[in-house]
Order: sequence, then structure tokens, then C-alpha cells
Amino acid sequence: MSDIRLDTSSLFAPVKPIDAYLLNAVRRWPMPDRLRDAVEYALLGGGKRLRPLLCWYWCAALGVPGEESLPGCAAIELVHAFSLVHDDLPALDNDDLRRGRPTLHRYAGEAMAILAGDAMLNLAYSAISESAPPLQPLLVSALSHATHKMVAGQVYDLDGGFPGDWTREMQVRAIHERKTGALMQAACTMGHHSARHGGKLPPGPLAAEIGAAVHYGQSIGIMFQIVDDLIDLTQTAEHTGKRTRKDAAAGKLTYPAVFGEGASRREVQRLRNEAIGALATLKDAGKPLADLCEYLCVRTQ
Ligand code: IPE
Ligand code: IPE
Ligand code: MG
Ligand code: MG
Ligand code: MG
Repeated sequence: MSDIRLDTSSLFAPVKPIDAYLLNAVRRWPMPDRLRDAVEYALLGGGKRLRPLLCWYWCAALGVPGEESLPGCAAIELVHAFSLVHDDLPALDNDDLRRGRPTLHRYAGEAMAILAGDAMLNLAYSAISESAPPLQPLLVSALSHATHKMVAGQVYDLDGGFPGDWTREMQVRAIHERKTGALMQAACTMGHHSARHGGKLPPGPLAAEIGAAVHYGQSIGIMFQIVDDLIDLTQTAEHTGKRTRKDAAAGKLTYPAVFGEGASRREVQRLRNEAIGALATLKDAGKPLADLCEYLCVRTQ
């Protein structure tokens, strides 16, 4: 993985309004102090906000201001943050470092980590309830299906239990498209829905069909997890803010474990090409999504 040569500062500019929206969404809910502290620790303490950025930029690519996708952006990040808190629990990956700090169960105890995850999953759907009425069922459907796939992926990641005729290649692909790919793909389709059904689409909209968001999201979703596997193999905890070099020790079914490091890097490139190809109908409006894809290929954190 080479160093990033993209100018990512403007690419990441929407993180500011996204974070402000998330903070506001959480602060409005009454909660016991311990739960609030736990939720805010997990949700607001760092994180690259990649899923909300995908949602924002898919909305913007169709000619609608990214702000119109904020309920979807908040919802997808709330589910992602919940998934990380539970992923780190002793019963799952048993990790003690996340986003450069102790994991939530290390900071606030296991019970509060479980309950904060529950709360964030619920808050995600309350965020969707703030979107335009015609949009709500589409966002609920996209998010609930993807979250269900994420949970299924975590089960395969943890326990195997695949159908007997699946090869190891099929198994690792199934894990990656579920545990990680599904939420990234949903982030894209939720952005697309926000533009198409939020009531703000300008006359003469761009012609990108939902299939383009699905295709792009599928490709970058699997690519993202392969890069995460490569980061685990090659980077340090100091650099990434989470424990690394643990997947092999834990016997995880990762791309480098199944295909080797070189083939995994080639698959990242192939999926990058697929994702960029899916943006063709967007023409210049797809540039931020192309830049985000390039960043996701070469990131080391
Ligand atoms: C980490 O996701 C978990 C995976 C799905 C591999 P991110 O790398 O997006 O985590 P944050 O949100 O930036 O911490
Ligand atoms: C996490 O995958 C996927 C979900 C949280 C659903 P990993 O277990 O590889 O993510 P990290 O490496 O802990 O961030
Ligand atoms: Mg895991
Ligand atoms: Mg993990
Ligand atoms: Mg990992």
C-alpha cells in the first residue's frame, strides 16, 4: 500500500456537518448519564466517517446537496459504530484498542458496551424518521437488510458453519460481502435514495440508475475489507489505532490467508477498476466518488 497522494482535505470536508448532525441527533435523546457517555465515546471519538461520506457523495452526484442525505448519513454511521462496539467485545474479537483509544467495553464495561450498541442501533432508525416521508421506507429497507447481512457475516466470521459445498474462496467472499460490504453498499444506495426521493431533485437530473450505486458499493465494500485485512497484516497498532497482526493468530478467514498477499492486492485493483467503471454515467459529477475509491484502495489506516 503506497502513501496517499490525493488531496483528501476537501474530500473529507463533509465530515464536519455530518459530525454536527450526529451530535445533535444523540443529544436530543434523554438517556442515563452512563449510557450517554458510552454512546458519545463510541460514536464521536474519531472514525473516518467513510459510510456517511459515501451516502453524502452519492446524493450530491445526482445534483442534490449532500445535506439532504444527512438522516441517512447519521443512520449508517450509527449502525457502523454499533457494529464496531460489538465486534470488539470479548465474545467476538476481544479487542482492547479502537480508534486509538481503549475499546468501549474496556472504557465503560461490557454491560454498557452491549447496551450502547443496542441504543445506537435504535438511534439509527430514529434518524431515518427525520427524513422526508417518501424516503423513510426506502432508507429503512436498505439499512435493515444491510444490517441483517452484517450480523450474518459476523456469524460466518466467528463460527464458520458454511454450506458444505462452498470452497474457501466462496467462504471468504461471503464473509466480506456480508460483514463489511453490505453496509458500504447500503451507504451508497441510501445516498441515491436521498437524492431521488427526498423531494429536492432538480429538473433534468443525471441519469445514473440505482444499479450504478449498487455496483460501485458492492465493489468498494469487498475492496474495503480486503484492504482492512492487508492493514492487519502489514501495519502497526500505533499507526492504525487498533490492534493489528491478529487475524492470522485468530485463524480468521481473510483474503491474504486464502489467496496470499500479492493476489489480494491484485483483487483490490480489480475491484477498484469495477467501482470506477460503475461511475461512468455520472461523468464529472462522479469525481468525488472516484477520489474516495482511490483513497480506499491506498489507505493504511
Ligand atoms: C473498520 O471500519 C471495520 C471494518 C469494517 C473493517 P473503518 O475502518 O471504517 O472504521 P472507522 O469508522 O474509521 O473507525
Ligand atoms: C469488522 O471486521 C466488521 C464489522 C464490524 C461488522 P474486522 O473485525 O476485521 O474489523 P476490525 O479490524 O476489528 O476493525
Ligand atoms: Mg471482526
Ligand atoms: Mg474486529
Ligand atoms: Mg480487521
